[in-house]
Amino acid sequence: MADNTELKAGREFHFTKKDFERVRKMIYDHAGISLSDSKQELVYSRLSRRLRTTGIQTFDTYLALLESNDEAEWEAFTNSLTTNLTSFFREPHHFPVLAEHLQKIRGKHPISLWCSAASTGEEPYTMAMTVLDTLGRDASQVSIVATDLDTKVLETAKAGVYPEERISKLDPELVKRYFQRGTGAQEGMVRVRQELRDMITFRQANLLHSNWGLRPPLDVIFCRNVMIYFDKPTQLGILKKFVPLLRSDGLLFAGHSESFHHADELFKLRGKTVYELTPKYKAIRKAEESR
Ligand SMILES: C[S@@+](CC[C@H](N)C(=O)[O-])C[C@H]1O[C@@H](n2cnc3c(N)ncnc32)[C@H](O)[C@@H]1O
Repeated sequence: MADNTELKAGREFHFTKKDFERVRKMIYDHAGISLSDSKQELVYSRLSRRLRTTGIQTFDTYLALLESNDEAEWEAFTNSLTTNLTSFFREPHHFPVLAEHLQKIRGKHPISLWCSAASTGEEPYTMAMTVLDTLGRDASQVSIVATDLDTKVLETAKAGVYPEERISKLDPELVKRYFQRGTGAQEGMVRVRQELRDMITFRQANLLHSNWGLRPPLDVIFCRNVMIYFDKPTQLGILKKFVPLLRSDGLLFAGHSESFHHADELFKLRGKTVYELTPKYKAIRKAEESR
């Protein structure tokens, strides 16, 4: 198909293979996200909304605006192309592992957890619930930083307000402990309790960048269901940057379909999608810690 041929006839906006390729390059360079050919429809539908909102008539003009580095539109463009699916206690087998690790290190030093693709917040709030359930009063030793590239999802995360169905499968006792049900205009919504919200600092960070503004050493990194959007070289680049941040006995949690075999010099699988540093890097980090 010629690059300027419309991908599908009869649509509101003319969208060609060339437009798709431009989008593909931009989001890859900016966020590391690799879009496969099968994402053409998704890209059209998500970016059409941006064209309507901005009143821009063609993809060509819209993409030229981005190429001129319009900061606000870059943010909206990026937010449009991320996939933010998440839930409370997603991949629940990870949380007992986290609890066990917290027990092991409690009282030894301040504890730092990082949730690196926090989306709308369910994952870091689940981490915070695990911290409170495991450490009780000692939870005050723990700080949690939750970051994401997408500024829109971070707003939801900070507010901590969700439709009730998001917690319908959770243990009622846990719901009672950690959520408040909305009344009046907030009927049908729940809010995570202040105690949990106070435990987490939410802010934007792009995994592709080299400085995430974190204070090492970190005891735990959650990096779940985001690496799947990146190609192997991008994943490896990110994993390399995790190494000097992680404590020698720290843990890295990955998503169910993510495996870091290609980084086996850096990380070793220690359980179902839970990684630790390899002996070589543990020793390096240990030496650095004792300095
Ligand atoms: C599918 S969600 C996963 C959410 C959560 N970690 C989980 O497993 O339920 C993927 C998240 O990664 C974020 N993301 C995508 N590219 C990113 C990047 N370059 N830096 C940081 N976050 C990114 C998206 O905005 C999205 O919120």
